[in-house]
Amino acid sequence: MAVLDIKKAGEKVLKEKAQPVAKFDRRLKRLLDDMLETMYAADGVGLAAPQVGVSLRVIVLDVGDGPIELINPEIIEHEGMELGPEGCLSVPGIYGEVERYARVTVEGLNRTGKKVRISGQGLLARALQHEIDHLEGVLFIERATALVKKE
Ligand code: CO
Repeated sequence: MAVLDIKKAGEKVLKEKAQPVAKFDRRLKRLLDDMLETMYAADGVGLAAPQVGVSLRVIVLDVGDGPIELINPEIIEHEGMELGPEGCLSVPGIYGEVERYARVTVEGLNRTGKKVRISGQGLLARALQHEIDHLEGVLFIERATALVKKE
């Protein structure tokens, strides 16, 4: 495994719509392992493949309950709205309030290509939406109100 460089706002790959994964091969498993290692090394709760320069629909998360991997994720259900704080490893030192669905159900595939479904609220719901936004080339700073800079 390897800790990868995290792309910062302004880099083109972060603005692109990422491509669906079609091959569930060793390369994908390595990408997932490297993304998890990179996320933990950076103390993040989520990471999307475009953030490591790979324009594929792959996200990883860990909001404290263990690692989650989702390939080609889609929000299939949502409920309510909630304003809450966000930051991003690609936008270091900047934080803001973002309105998101309060609860979401996301469907995707795991590393073996098997269908998985995750429902969450609070930080998990927020992180899922933030990471899926990355796959559309959207950064939280485009949705946030009250952006603040913290060292
Ligand atoms: Co982010």
